Amino acid sequence: MASILSPILSALSWLLCLPWKLVHLASGFLHALKKNLSDPYFVDFHSELNATSGEHHQSQTEWINMGYWKETNDFPTACKALALKLVQVAQCKSDGIVLDVGHGCGDSLLLHLEHPSIPRPKRLVGITSQIQHYRRALERTSVRNPGDSVDMCLTHGDAVYRGDTPSHPLDAKTYEGAYTTILALDCAYHFRSRRLFLEQSFKCLAIGGNIALGDICFAPGSLSLTTRFMIALMGSMPSENVMTTEEYVAMLRGIGYVDVKLENITQDVFPGFVTFLKGRGLAFGILASHFERLVSRGMLFVIVSASKP
Ligand SMILES: C[S@@+](CC[C@H](N)C(=O)[O-])C[C@H]1O[C@@H](n2cnc3c(N)ncnc32)[C@H](O)[C@@H]1O
Ligand SMILES: *[C@@H]1O[C@H](CO)[C@@H](O)[C@H](O)[C@H]1NC(C)=O
Ligand SMILES: *[C@@H]1O[C@H](CO)[C@@H](O)[C@H](O)[C@H]1NC(C)=O
Ligand SMILES: *[C@@H]1O[C@H](CO)[C@@H](O)[C@H](O)[C@H]1NC(C)=O
Repeated sequence: MASILSPILSALSWLLCLPWKLVHLASGFLHALKKNLSDPYFVDFHSELNATSGEHHQSQTEWINMGYWKETNDFPTACKALALKLVQVAQCKSDGIVLDVGHGCGDSLLLHLEHPSIPRPKRLVGITSQIQHYRRALERTSVRNPGDSVDMCLTHGDAVYRGDTPSHPLDAKTYEGAYTTILALDCAYHFRSRRLFLEQSFKCLAIGGNIALGDICFAPGSLSLTTRFMIALMGSMPSENVMTTEEYVAMLRGIGYVDVKLENITQDVFPGFVTFLKGRGLAFGILASHFERLVSRGMLFVIVSASKP
């Protein structure tokens, strides 16, 4: 899934949601807009920030998530805070076997290698779907794992195992009961499907192991036809992943997970992210407006955690 928004749906959404901007409809502009919207993950938020904000030159972070903006208005700081929140909920164990799916450019992997408050795993496994992100993560983690003290294994591919990726981390033939922790930071709503991913993860978790996700779902009773249509316009969430908090929790219990927790952190994620997007040019401003409408209709950012009994 390379894009958050398919170009056609984006253009449609643009026309539907903001007709007053029609005045600006010139072909060159539309082209730039489509290009921007078709693959937001490809736009280097991080290198733009690198160029404008001196303080990040050294740290060289390349986060791409919606951020936890409670104590900051700085994008990389917010991204890191969200990642730390997820890892805390997951209660990673020292010498554990951690799987991080949708790790993007690898900043969350680096936390497991370096961060003082996170226990060092014995083995760190990752899979992410964009080849550029995968290469970046490989490069960055290999130079920051002195003496290869953590056994690393990264794979380029879809988080859901479909029998066609060699050494896929969710291939139960090899990895049944393997992981003490599975993490999915701001990505599971993309998967086809999230349920399939959660089922495969259940098999591959060790007994007593935890899964934690930073994910998107919806308030109970909010999923009207109009809301569903607006979600479809975003083009980033397959319809089978569109569910309420109650449905999400019930799905996890149905798969066999116990100790299921869902924390609503919408207030500390979306407003900050929307403000950030609005400062990134018109295309992102449009995305931000669409986001705001969805938030007012019950879209939630949640931290979900569960264990395998
Ligand atoms: C919002 S970014 C989060 C990246 C990273 N977790 C971070 O916080 O910096 C979502 C990531 O999930 C990846 N992704 C999307 N769909 C995926 C899939 N089906 N399987 C694996 N990764 C996927 C994207 O390529 C992207 O790197
Ligand atoms: C980020 O800043 C550093 C230091 O100024 C520079 O060497 C590097 O090329 C920049 N990276 C990107 C992707 O812009
Ligand atoms: C989640 O939090 C948001 C923001 O504080 C709030 O408006 C909403 O009612 C909450 N929804 C649920 C289902 O907890
Ligand atoms: C596309 O994105 C760039 C970088 O974020 C921004 O400067 C530019 O204004 C955007 N173009 C349009 C048409 O929104």
